[in-house]
Amino acid sequence: MTNTIDRAAEPAEVWDLPTRLFHWALVLLVCLLFYTGLQGKLDLHMKLGQAMLGLLLFRLIWGFIGNRQARFADFIAGPGAAIAYLRSLFGKPGRRYLGHNPLGGYAVLLMLALLLLQASTGLFTSDDIATDGPLYAKVSGAVSARLSTLHRWGFDFLLIVIGLHLAANAFYLLVKRENLIGPMLSGRKAVEAGHAAADSTKSAGVMVALLLFIGCEAAVFGAIYWLGG
Ligand code: HEM
Ligand code: HEM
Repeated sequence: MTNTIDRAAEPAEVWDLPTRLFHWALVLLVCLLFYTGLQGKLDLHMKLGQAMLGLLLFRLIWGFIGNRQARFADFIAGPGAAIAYLRSLFGKPGRRYLGHNPLGGYAVLLMLALLLLQASTGLFTSDDIATDGPLYAKVSGAVSARLSTLHRWGFDFLLIVIGLHLAANAFYLLVKRENLIGPMLSGRKAVEAGHAAADSTKSAGVMVALLLFIGCEAAVFGAIYWLGG
């Protein structure tokens, strides 16, 4: 694989600006969604939840036109690669990956899928008192009841997976002595001279990302408004 590095040397761009902004906006939105959901501030919660759907849609598209490390093709590996990587974690130092490692790639997909599920079920959720999701009336009472239950359980599941994500970051920092968090802030990671630059696929650019993000949000809010009537 060409996106691996052997020794640390000069820094190169790993995470493009749109991917970093996506990540930290995601963290902020998840915190606000947990807070507003649990506090019953549901009007704000539903608006933020729809914004989350737009953000996730943006990331799904960016996974095809972002820079090399942002692309799904870069971090979706076969299960064999993930198992081999897991083994190497506790043995002699294995390959270091510029972007997500094969195991981390699965964690990223799991988090994105769970967030997508959580945000989608929210559209059909009711608190059985005064607040219904915008598409609640589009499905039968039984389906809505099931999706509402999924929405309440999904939250616990998400907390566990996010906990594992934070634990993995701490493991790399404290045990493997590799700081993954710095690059998610600065975008840069130390790599062997010339290696990453020669391999890197350019992202579609920040202006394209901005327009895409606005388009995704408009599409989500527009579609829900239109469908919800
Ligand atoms: C990833 C996005 C989302 C997260 C993390 C999230 C999280 C939560 C949480 C933690 C609760 C409280 C559950 C409880 O009291 O046990 C909740 C409730 C609720 N959410 Fe979401 N939510 C998301 C998206 C949405 C969306 C998009 C909508 C609708 C537009 C929505 C509508 C609701 C409603 C109506 C409730 C009240 C349910 C009840 O009180 O039983 N949520 N959500
Ligand atoms: C609500 C909490 C969080 C969620 C839902 C979340 C989700 C994610 C997702 C989806 C990615 C993949 C990024 C992409 O390729 O687009 C990611 C990567 C990453 N996150 Fe988080 N994250 C959370 C909190 C945090 C926090 C608090 C930190 C730092 C302390 C952090 C550090 C990182 C790092 C370093 C990566 C890149 C990992 C690598 O090098 O492969 N995350 N996170």
